[in-house]
Formats: sequence, C-alpha cells, structure tokens
Amino acid sequence: MKRVTTTTTTDLWHHFGRTRATIDRTVPAAFYWAWSQASGPGPDVLGDLTGLCVGDLGAGAARHAAHLATRHQPARVDAVDASPAQNTMATDLFGHLAPRLRIVPSDVVDHLRSMPGTYDVLYSVFGAIDFTEPRELLPAAAAALRPGGRLVFSTLAHYLSGAPAQPDVVHADIPAKTPTGETTTMRRWVLQEHVWTKLLDEAGFTDIDVDVLSATTDGPRTAGTQLVTAVRQAT
Ligand SMILES: C[S@@+](CC[C@H](N)C(=O)[O-])C[C@H]1O[C@@H](n2cnc3c(N)ncnc32)[C@H](O)[C@@H]1O
Repeated sequence: MKRVTTTTTTDLWHHFGRTRATIDRTVPAAFYWAWSQASGPGPDVLGDLTGLCVGDLGAGAARHAAHLATRHQPARVDAVDASPAQNTMATDLFGHLAPRLRIVPSDVVDHLRSMPGTYDVLYSVFGAIDFTEPRELLPAAAAALRPGGRLVFSTLAHYLSGAPAQPDVVHADIPAKTPTGETTTMRRWVLQEHVWTKLLDEAGFTDIDVDVLSATTDGPRTAGTQLVTAVRQAT
C-alpha cells in the first residue's frame, strides 16, 4: 500500500537549498558526511563504488549523488527524494548526468519496497533517514540491498539546540515552513547511538558501527554528526 506523507500535500522542503541553486550549479568537488559539509570523512566510507548500484535516500538537489556519479564510476546512482521542489532543482542542476545519475521522485520507503535486492550501497546525508519513521525505513532499506550490501548515513548526534538525542525511538516536531511561508512542523528522529544500533540490528543489519564526528565550526549551525555504517545480513 502506498504511504501517505506530508510531502504529497505540502512540500516542506520547498525553500531548502533554493538560494544556493541559483548561484552554484557545479558538481561538488568533495563529498562530506559532517553537518558542516566542510571537512571530515568522505566517500571512501562507502567503499569502492566501481560498477555498483547506489541509492541516495533523501538526495535533495542531488549534489552528493552527482559527485559520486561523476567521480566514482558507479553503474548508477539513484537520487531518491519525495519533494517536488528538490526534484525540480536536482533535474535542473544535474539532469544532464543521466543515465548514470537517475533522479527518482518518490517517498523512499515506497521506492525501497519496490526494489528488493537491488542496491549494493544505500546512503543518506542528513536525508530521509532523519525524517522518516525508522521502523519502516530501515527494514525497507535492508530488503532493497543485496545480501552483504552497505547502508551508510549521517545524522545529528544531538538536537541543533544542543539538547541530547533521544534514548528511545521518539521523534521531535521541529519547525518548518510551507512554500508560502507559513510556520508548521515536521518530524525529525534524533536518536542516540544505542537506539540506531538496536533499530539496525532488528531491521536485519550486521557489522553496525557509529562514528561520532565532533562539530568543527562555531556558530548556530554547528552540530555533531553520527556517521553510521551497517551491512545487510547475508540470508
Ligand atoms: C535536509 S535535506 C538533505 C538533502 C541532501 N541529502 C543534502 O545533504 O543536501 C532532507 C531531504 O530528505 C528528503 N526526505 C525526507 N523524508 C523523505 C522520504 N520519506 N522520502 C523521500 N525523501 C525524503 C526531503 O525531501 C529533503 O530533500
């Protein structure tokens, strides 16, 4: 059954990255996991992508996916996103990188459920994994990976306010804006390391590792990052 998401009615990602898209149309020279997007581990964490089928979960304007598609020789990178605004931006910026880069307008859970055993690598950079019920998304990701496939994602180590991450599977309602500027909220899962580890284990992942990357810059937009890696169990 198709999932009903808020993005099907109101696109709460309409404003995200909009200014940058007007001034920076280049494929990024680097790929970072950290919240600062300025330093730290890069795509090596994904392993050798040559000839592999890769999926970006909540790709936004597809800047990370474009970097991988142009510099790491995958067979294909699917940049999956539910936001019409983000998909329009991604198509405008990087549509020319098809067929190696494929913009996939879809809720990630719907998409993953329709692609069993397809992907070698799935990843998310503060993407859909932060904003989707993890007890739905993580089993769907496991099923969409081939046995032995990798899931890698970066997620907040704590709330942007500095408050600690949740010790249980509990979301927060965080501020968001509709396309016309009205204030609303959206769900964000900011979970402690042991919570992600348990969820991944229950979803069918093994070799789970959580690396905490400290905030590297000062200011209101600084935050620590959890860089999570896991392998789909062989069946
Ligand atoms: C903070 S943005 C990050 C975008 C991109 N990864 C980046 O680093 O620029 C989060 C993105 O996740 C997408 N997203 C959230 N939940 C999703 C879902 N269930 N299915 C598809 N996309 C989703 C949003 O539409 C948004 O583009």
